[in-house]
Amino acid sequence: MLVNAAEMLKKAEAGHYGLGAFNTNNMEWTLAILQAAEEAKSPLIIQCTSGAAKWMGGFKMCSAMVNAGMEALGTTVPVALHLDHGSYEACFEAIEAGFTSIMYDGSHEETFQINLDRTKELVEIAHSKGISIEAEVGGIGGTEDGVTSNGELADPNECKQIADLGVDFLACGIGNIHGLYPANWAGLSFERLGEIKALTGDLPLVLHGGTGIPEDQIKKAISLGISKINVNTDLQVVFAAATREYIEAGKDQQGKGYDPRKLLKGGREAIVARTKELMEEFGSVNKA
Ligand code: 13P
Repeated sequence: MLVNAAEMLKKAEAGHYGLGAFNTNNMEWTLAILQAAEEAKSPLIIQCTSGAAKWMGGFKMCSAMVNAGMEALGTTVPVALHLDHGSYEACFEAIEAGFTSIMYDGSHEETFQINLDRTKELVEIAHSKGISIEAEVGGIGGTEDGVTSNGELADPNECKQIADLGVDFLACGIGNIHGLYPANWAGLSFERLGEIKALTGDLPLVLHGGTGIPEDQIKKAISLGISKINVNTDLQVVFAAATREYIEAGKDQQGKGYDPRKLLKGGREAIVARTKELMEEFGSVNKA
């Protein structure tokens, strides 16, 4: 049965280790991530954006797939199903569909006050249903424009105001960026992370854009209070590489190599292996 993510992240914060929050994109991803968590005996946050949910046929499909996957694999580790970067409306849809954790990303709202008001409302609704909630302060940059060389830095006082609303964990920009990091990236701002942590106490903090951050920076961020590390692109890259290798070797044209179970097998196995490697790096192995 799915659990919410509050307890597992509290434990991670107190125990000074990180928990990966892995984005699922389809059934292969879902089963591979569940398999990795079980083999690593790691608690798991499996998360889904609205866009990925749409691809899968909606939040209900995603929720049903994760639940059925856990049953099929005999999952024993705690698993939370989390909405990643939800709009105000998406939060209600995900709750309705059986997600046990939501992220309301109000960092792009017109004003900070709107982010504050909506987070407050959603904290009350989520908690009344036993669902954990993540909020965000200071947008996480992207590399789509090919120009960004560093992510935003969240305002520590805004973080404190959002933290005081009772959110279970908080995403704050500390120079991190979604997707692959540009060569001229300035790195994480540990100074800003320290300032935020000083004001937010034992609240677990979330690092978005976990792909491609050097291991020493990840470990330092965890030691300074990061408890949840979001990973999406990394698993996409290993899946694509394994699938490309299969096709470039001409295997899809040999025998029944076009069978999706053959075509996607290498990619699926690559996700399992990489997820376990990341769980090792974050320190969550054997913490279930
Ligand atoms: P990456 O795609 O950079 O790993 O970021 C994932 C993320 O932060 C999801 O919210």
